[in-house]
Amino acid sequence: MECTISSFYLIKQEKLQTVSYKNYKGIILAGGSGNRLRPLTDFVCKQLLPVYDKPLVYYPLTSLILAGIKEILIISTPKDTPILQSSLGDGSELGISIQYKVQEKPRGLADAFIVAEEFIDGHPVCMILGDNILHKSGFSEFMTDALENNKGATIFSFPVQDPTRFGILEIDPESDKILSLEEKPENPKSNLAVIGLYIYDKTVVEKAKKQKPSDRGELEITDLNKQYFKEGTLNFSKLSRGDIWIDVGVFDSFCDASLLIKLIESRLGLKIGSPEEASYMCGNIDEKNLRFFAKKYKDSPYGAYFRKLLDV
Ligand code: TTP
Repeated sequence: MECTISSFYLIKQEKLQTVSYKNYKGIILAGGSGNRLRPLTDFVCKQLLPVYDKPLVYYPLTSLILAGIKEILIISTPKDTPILQSSLGDGSELGISIQYKVQEKPRGLADAFIVAEEFIDGHPVCMILGDNILHKSGFSEFMTDALENNKGATIFSFPVQDPTRFGILEIDPESDKILSLEEKPENPKSNLAVIGLYIYDKTVVEKAKKQKPSDRGELEITDLNKQYFKEGTLNFSKLSRGDIWIDVGVFDSFCDASLLIKLIESRLGLKIGSPEEASYMCGNIDEKNLRFFAKKYKDSPYGAYFRKLLDV
């Protein structure tokens, strides 16, 4: 379906007033082995596989941009880091900075903070997994609020059908405080999964370094979160029923995510997960830069979208 002029008019009216969290660094963890997606991942890394009309990594990148973060580190494997770097560049076209760092072995999600120590450089951090898609109305305001109010760590939960596959939160219904946090529990105490988006204060590197590998040989993010829990500084925020969170790790979730994005984009006439549009809306780039993207992608619907956005 063609984009309607009225929806573009709305975008222009709704240009975001994000506070730029200059002190927050952003990380996209985009390595791993992608074993469940072989043989596809023998050719292309998971994060560059398509979800409908864009590579998967565009979605988490867009989330960090919408959160107002301007300094981003992408961590990936020795084989895939140069490919991601040549595809995504240094971020200057988007008015942000993107750096790259290799994780030699998939040592777990919490290992990201050890790999990124130099980049983090004593700042607070927001990390998103390179295979997580988030879509929420008012996402920028939601994240701005979470970053601004973070004391220690903030994790995000979403209700799931199969809680034995995720890190699960148990919440006290009276106080709305976290009672427990368990990784892939056999007998889950709730259906609230911890999603792949995390906010940490500047002590995160020191805490990650204290961790011991789990039985599967990884530094577990749940163990890192438990350190904050023990200190009494682990907070959580719930995504609501109408929000979308997809952990894209298997063929079916790629298929489901593609169909869902196609449906939303064609119904609304808007793009989900466009870093260029997010940067424009956050004021990282202006109309001149958007015109550059309209030209760059001139023969594809992606370019046509920017042309419509510019009314040219
Ligand atoms: P997973 O989906 O848990 O692992 P994976 O991508 O290796 O896939 P599979 O289980 O099929 O082998 O990883 C979630 C995200 O975190 C994904 O973007 C890859 C990334 N990751 C790393 O970058 N380093 C790591 O050490 C791990 C465990 C994951």
